[in-house]
Amino acid sequence: MGKSIAGFSKLSKSEKIDWIVNNYFSHPEDAKQILKQYWNNNKALQQLHDEFIENTISNYYLPLGVAPNFLINNKPYTIPMVIEESSVVAAASKAAKFWSSRGGFKTKVISTTKIGQVHFIFDGDTQDLDIYFKTIKSQFFDDAKSVTQNMEKRGGGILDIVLKNKTDALENYYQLHATFETLDAMGANFINSCLEQFATTLKRTASKSLKGNLNVVMSILSNYVPDCLVRAEVSCDVDKLSESNTMSGDAFAKKFIEAVNIAEVEPYRAVTHNKGIMNGIDAVVLATGNDFRAIEAGVHAYASRHGQYSSLTHAKIENGVFTFWMEIPLALGTVGGLTGLHPLVKLALEMLDKPSAKELMQIVAVAGLAQNFAALRSLTTTGIQQGHMKMHLMNILNQFKANTTEKIALTEHFKNHTVTHSAVLKALENLRLKVN
Ligand code: MEV
Repeated sequence: MGKSIAGFSKLSKSEKIDWIVNNYFSHPEDAKQILKQYWNNNKALQQLHDEFIENTISNYYLPLGVAPNFLINNKPYTIPMVIEESSVVAAASKAAKFWSSRGGFKTKVISTTKIGQVHFIFDGDTQDLDIYFKTIKSQFFDDAKSVTQNMEKRGGGILDIVLKNKTDALENYYQLHATFETLDAMGANFINSCLEQFATTLKRTASKSLKGNLNVVMSILSNYVPDCLVRAEVSCDVDKLSESNTMSGDAFAKKFIEAVNIAEVEPYRAVTHNKGIMNGIDAVVLATGNDFRAIEAGVHAYASRHGQYSSLTHAKIENGVFTFWMEIPLALGTVGGLTGLHPLVKLALEMLDKPSAKELMQIVAVAGLAQNFAALRSLTTTGIQQGHMKMHLMNILNQFKANTTEKIALTEHFKNHTVTHSAVLKALENLRLKVN
């Protein structure tokens, strides 16, 4: 086990598979069969997937589900979600339905500014660098024109470039800190191209104008976008929150707010609380072909912006009205990247009525808020295991290779019984004994 190989990327797809299965599997033909059963019969579609990345050997499927009945700013949506966790889509749908009869979700894009930086080291005089930067600043914009002209025609582009002195943090460290408006594009390629052009301009002009060594270390966008912010909110009279006789709206709201308050002050809880929010966010980000790692990194950094990791959501009761809200940074795109390439991404965006990036920010934020509402509602009332294990039942039945008749019988049985691994196994064994 554990072989290495030179020139792997140059092999054909079937040579790559042969090398993998022959070197890492005790039953190479079985492994090959598993890989091949996920290939698409449509050759063009398979080729598209093969070419998304290097060394593709198969496709990795995740379920694409939908959560209907979302009312966002009075417009109904069915939200596509790509996720493997059994209870997430069900929870989103439940929260959507709950709030659709209580005014729905209200959202607002607060800002859309993206950020990129050229990081450099300069061992000369700071004041000289300041003067040089002021003199040369317009050159950065002029030299980047070939990159920016199309974006500018549509109303976006470079907003500003500032010189930042970071020598307090690291010896001789400075930045060109640039801000961008990238409209419906997530903007990574646009921003990185601009930044690399700034670096070229910097190197060219600095060597002529400055005494001392200036070395560009790197030029890259930041996935921390605290000025690309969206707000999502739900609110209703406290007494409209109650759905059962077991808890009044007021008691529910107070317990719910306590749960949010705990996540605001306790990082161990905040991480799980925010993970639940990301269940909703990542699922829509994936379905719409956006970069969930960028979103994750940026959102968690934002959750720590006051120096301690904290809840992304907040809740209050004021004058008898319960309000639950969240503001998060989301740099999303609805053009470029996978959005025009992956057929399921195109389908997801069409399902959402071909949103602009700003509209998608609002939809994604709602999915996150809804997910958190559903989680806290379960946690503060029944606990999550009841609903979670009900949704997980099908996975357990599949694990024990239950057939369709057994699945129907046991789904019915577990409507009134607690789902646990051992209870499902026992019920299945009993059923099989009865039948045989
Ligand atoms: C599970 O994927 C997510 C939850 O743990 C979130 C939470 O605890 O708030 C239910």
